[in-house]
Amino acid sequence: MSSRLVLGIETSCDETGAAVMDETGLILGESLHSQKEVHMKTGGIIPTVAQRLHRENIGRVVQEAMERSGVTQSQLSAVATTVKPGLALSLGIGLDFSLNFVKLHQKPFIPIHHMEAHALTVRMLQPVVFPFLVLLVSGGHSLLALARGIDDFLLLGQTLDEAPGDTMDKVARRLSLIKHPKCSMISGGQAIEILARDGDRLKFLFKPPMGAQYDCNFSFAGLRNQVTMSIQKKEEEEGVEQGTLLSCVNDIAAATQHTVASHIAKRTHRAILFCKAKDLLPSCNPTLVVSGGVASNQYIRKILKIVTDTTGLHLLCPPSKFCTDNGVMIAWNGVERLREGKGILSHTEEVNYEPK
Ligand code: KG4
Ligand code: ZN
Repeated sequence: MSSRLVLGIETSCDETGAAVMDETGLILGESLHSQKEVHMKTGGIIPTVAQRLHRENIGRVVQEAMERSGVTQSQLSAVATTVKPGLALSLGIGLDFSLNFVKLHQKPFIPIHHMEAHALTVRMLQPVVFPFLVLLVSGGHSLLALARGIDDFLLLGQTLDEAPGDTMDKVARRLSLIKHPKCSMISGGQAIEILARDGDRLKFLFKPPMGAQYDCNFSFAGLRNQVTMSIQKKEEEEGVEQGTLLSCVNDIAAATQHTVASHIAKRTHRAILFCKAKDLLPSCNPTLVVSGGVASNQYIRKILKIVTDTTGLHLLCPPSKFCTDNGVMIAWNGVERLREGKGILSHTEEVNYEPK
């Protein structure tokens, strides 16, 4: 039997992505349009702008992925598309496009949960067996879960306010890092990482979040407030205008990054201890998978490595291109579902989703 082929489509936030993949996980063709540059200029995602850009690009992105794969619409076995969670207006574009596509070409439709797709992407690259622990940290996500099967996740903790990437983006914006010579055209999180390399984190001591809450949830908004207040104090001391601080930007970046990293590490450590106490992880090769844009931060990876080394877990961080949003991870989740025959709808079925 020839390999079945899946088209994956992602539009949950600010990336319009599509990929065609065969049943073995081989990427036959892919295309990605990022809106990040546009949103960077406006200082954040404006949902109606994101929706318009998805609408303008989705047809071309899907066509490109199909052309690059050499696969025709009739050869596809199914279309897999992110249906939640995400920005409702962005998700709607991918969903409408996909439903029209499956009706036109009479193909099965596989609705995909964006976070599950992030969690499972690692299995496309190597044979990680269930159950394994997953840490997702990006601009929109912050959660810890135990992956027990392709559609079986035990949520252990999540952010109570904002995600760590969002926090670092906001700090970077408050410091106007976009104007910094070392930081043009990169994300706030990347800018913080680069500047932190030349900073002394001990020059600013931020209180670690949630010190008295003994669970696996996260919180970053309080840290952001502390950082903002320190920046304002320094600006006043030095008599400079808002967003023009120069003297201690590296130290602020280093202290912010360290506090984010140690909060993530502490909650992950607790999740590992919980899973061990409840015997939820396999005794052979227990694994922590880390994904999401923030997972590409080398400082955070180093601290997580200390956590996994001391608890006997194997740390897996997929390459950055698979940690961030794209059509490939959605196609892979579609392949996993197709293989197990789970969650596959006919093109005639009614599909309505809440974005959360
Ligand atoms: O996964 P992603 O591309 O998109 C979503 O947020 O879903 O992640 C982007 C986020 C941004 O907030 C960005 O600042 C952060 O990941 N990020 C980083 C680094 N690279 C990207 N944060 C810290 N260090 C990095 N090297
Ligand atoms: Zn994502």
